[in-house]
Amino acid sequence: MRLVKLIANLGYGSRKEVAWMFREGRITDPDGEVLYADDKVEHAHIRIDGEPLDPPTGIVLMMNKPLGVTCSRKDPGRVVYDLLPLRYRQRSPALSTVGRLDRDTSGLLLLTDDGAMLHRIISPRANVTKVYEATLAQDLRGDEQALFASGTMMLESETTPLLPAKLDVFAPRHVRLSITEGRYHQVRRMFAATGNHVDTLQRTALGRLSTDGLQAGAWRQLETNDIAQIFESADS
Ligand code: URA
Repeated sequence: MRLVKLIANLGYGSRKEVAWMFREGRITDPDGEVLYADDKVEHAHIRIDGEPLDPPTGIVLMMNKPLGVTCSRKDPGRVVYDLLPLRYRQRSPALSTVGRLDRDTSGLLLLTDDGAMLHRIISPRANVTKVYEATLAQDLRGDEQALFASGTMMLESETTPLLPAKLDVFAPRHVRLSITEGRYHQVRRMFAATGNHVDTLQRTALGRLSTDGLQAGAWRQLETNDIAQIFESADS
């Protein structure tokens, strides 16, 4: 790919703006030698104002989504993309969220510009465990663990039962729920079906990848070993 297009696609500016950056001598090799737009140079050997380029296409980011922001670009109000630097919001191909979390759900959210990776993670065959911690409005009634694990639980207006889910009880109103599907508002609807209400909901892990150490609203790029953890069983 031509350098102007490559750099513009990373969100550094329009092609016209990037062409100007070349003319201004802002784009160099690691030794500070000025590069020209038609040079053939590897991504890793390009510097802009002395700084390495952002990572090439094919990235996966993890974010600790705060409450009050939504996942769709079309939603009014603050969206998760607003938490990324402007350049990341202007990349082409664009970043998309891997599934969604509700406005009132916090925790681990992935974003990627890699369509194949997105499908690999959300594919039912990947069987990725999504781990949620919830606080409830009322004490558990007692049969929830068995009901959620049964593989026969039906949600209202659905035609197929939920796959077995694992409920760990920390306290009568504080639980961890591990599911392998991603149905619409699934966790809230599962508790609603038992006559309860989810007060707070946080996704703490996907497989063995957790938000540990990431502040609300913060994000980081995943390395290959982080991505592998997504596909590991949360129990292993
Ligand atoms: N289940 C829900 O109810 N909400 C989410 O955001 C995720 C899972």
